[in-house]
Amino acid sequence: MNRQKYLFIVFLLLCFNNGFAQDAEYIYPELIADREMALFVDDLMKKMTLEEKIGQLNLCTGGWFVTGPVISKDNEGLIRQGKVGAILNTFGVENVTALQKMAVDETRLGIPLIFGLDVVHGFRTIFPIPLAQACSWDMEAIERSERIAAIEATAMGINWTYAPMVDIARDPRWGRVMEGAGEDTYLGSRIAAVRVKGFQGEDLSDEKTMMACVKHFAAYGAPQAGRDYNTVDMSERSLLEWYLPPYKAAVDANAGSIMTSFNEIAGVPSSSNKWLLIDLLRNKWGFDGFVVSDWTSIPELIPHGVAVDSADAARLAINAGLDMDMEGMVYLKYMKNLIEKGQVSEETVNKSARRILEAKYKLGLFEDPYRYCNKTREENEIMTPENLTFARKFTASSMVLLKNENKTLPISKKVKTIAVIGPLGDSKENTIGGWGAAGQWDSCITVLRGIQRKAAGTVRVLYEKGCEITGMDKGGFDNALAAARKADFVVLALGESQDMSGEASSRSDISLPGVQMELARKIISTSKPVAVVLFNGRPLTIEELNDIAPAILEAWFGGTQAGNAVADVLFGDVNPSGKLTMTFPRNVGQIPVFYNSKNTGRPFDPRLPEDYFKSRYQDVVNSPLYPFGFGLSYTTFKYSPVTMNKTSFSKGDLIEATVEITNAGDYDGVEIVQLYVRDRVGNVTRPVKELRGFQRVSIKQGETAKVSFTLHLSDLSYYHEDMSFDYDPGEFELYIGPDSDVKEFIVFTIR
Ligand code: BGC
Repeated sequence: MNRQKYLFIVFLLLCFNNGFAQDAEYIYPELIADREMALFVDDLMKKMTLEEKIGQLNLCTGGWFVTGPVISKDNEGLIRQGKVGAILNTFGVENVTALQKMAVDETRLGIPLIFGLDVVHGFRTIFPIPLAQACSWDMEAIERSERIAAIEATAMGINWTYAPMVDIARDPRWGRVMEGAGEDTYLGSRIAAVRVKGFQGEDLSDEKTMMACVKHFAAYGAPQAGRDYNTVDMSERSLLEWYLPPYKAAVDANAGSIMTSFNEIAGVPSSSNKWLLIDLLRNKWGFDGFVVSDWTSIPELIPHGVAVDSADAARLAINAGLDMDMEGMVYLKYMKNLIEKGQVSEETVNKSARRILEAKYKLGLFEDPYRYCNKTREENEIMTPENLTFARKFTASSMVLLKNENKTLPISKKVKTIAVIGPLGDSKENTIGGWGAAGQWDSCITVLRGIQRKAAGTVRVLYEKGCEITGMDKGGFDNALAAARKADFVVLALGESQDMSGEASSRSDISLPGVQMELARKIISTSKPVAVVLFNGRPLTIEELNDIAPAILEAWFGGTQAGNAVADVLFGDVNPSGKLTMTFPRNVGQIPVFYNSKNTGRPFDPRLPEDYFKSRYQDVVNSPLYPFGFGLSYTTFKYSPVTMNKTSFSKGDLIEATVEITNAGDYDGVEIVQLYVRDRVGNVTRPVKELRGFQRVSIKQGETAKVSFTLHLSDLSYYHEDMSFDYDPGEFELYIGPDSDVKEFIVFTIR
């Protein structure tokens, strides 16, 4: 509940005594529910012992997916003793029912458990990885995918997902960029909100919705050198302006819980950061859900060097506002003693326990602990044909066409033999992508399978692996070359293995691993038409591939329907429309390279290469290989000059900008139209461009669409030198175009 709502309710409660009760409840129907919940939890808490309250703060792993040390032992025994509040990584109606029964039937008060899982890009129907989803820029589809994920997960006992991951990331060496929305704060915030809505729906107690857990609070996406779990250190302004807004957007969308991050920020680990968890999250943002640690991030306060021992770590974390301990077992072990010694107040534990009980209440678990354990749903609502059809469409719309020389794609109808070559051509495990929840590799359609299905009866399909994803063995090259020579079109499926991105999967070299680039050189040198299809979880350094390959399709890790969706795009049944939400660097030395950088006092102008003392490299240009927002289509979109309702604005005015886009090519298509602004003279320095709007527009061949954007002056606000949040008077540039490299702008003024 935010602060305003809280004050309003207090006001209304006061009115009850004055006979306004009925009106108040009419105005604010949630009030009754909140009051009932408060009474219920009050009553329950009165009955609970301190040990039982501490038990609620404990989250143990069921042990199926382990992403850290497993400390908990004999979970069933602990559940029976009322020492567990929630379980992660166990699903399936039978398993969940069995554990829930222990909590409900065998503990003194029968308090039900919450069941959590990382449902990150689908539950059993797996969608593309979140970074790929973001490249669709399709808010409706992203929300729908989370809705489907929630329906499937809740059909198998899960009622809490550790998602959305909303960490802004500018360094593709960091393996977890695959889980987020990319580098942009504005887009990331929009996506954060729709993901929460998709998971939680309108009513958390609905058997088909689950509680979201926004993570990783905060700034986990900015580890030094892109190394996972590494130190984060940045200015307060960068934190507030670039990194925090997506978490705030998720909180504003009513996310029920939030997870602290492993990292420190400026010397204070998130799991002991009072400023972050109390001052900002609770007091300023009005968050009323509960805060959970990341996996053993509380005992990790010891190696961080701020806690002496596990008890000290527990003390620091709970006093900083961290309610639930994931797999650290330190609250369970030390909290009672800390209270007895006066190092933690009982009131603090009460507050945390209350928040967790409230979440259980909101999930409807007190009413029916088996609400999410429904055999019929488990049998009928998983991987339905509708879910798979949607996944196929969504996956295709998340792919980004990076290059398409001489209209290599779509594959011509004249093609009679296609050779699918490469280590990602028929690898189910690596096509589906990491963080796969309950996804089953076996059900994943690879690119080979997708092409075979699509081409059945009309095109002969050859397959050669050529080489492994990693390793130096070139023994398969000859057969691969022979297959290419026999074919009149080659699909070269290259990329990373699924475990090269995700947690603990940072890479210092983000080029194609192993001998894949060598294989690509050989196959491309046959002069056959070649389309490279990339499967990967992060931007890669593929400058040479871009130079030599006729066509490149970025397919990411695409989930269950990846191969079908790739085939849809390759054969032109779907015209690709995705646009990158993370910049592709030319080489690792350029990192971090992102579109909304600062101009510096010595900006380099590529038209003046002899200008020596400028901000640049000696051995590589400043521009990336593919900029943020970039992506091609099989058709061509032509943009008219931008027009505006006026060019000088005062307080209260709306800024309206319009552009006309003509589909001048040969296919119907979808264009993702992007609006950027630049504040020419700021109170502090401003980025060279900032995304402030986008629209996904479907335009038929030969037709023209008029696309208008409306901005409020407040959309141009940022943190000034004195940290006030305001916009500047003065001149701005406004750009509307197909990507962040758009050059033409129109100038407007704010008086
Ligand atoms: C990850 C989290 C995840 C948790 C539970 C941790 O290692 O950092 O993102 O939610 O494990 O699986």
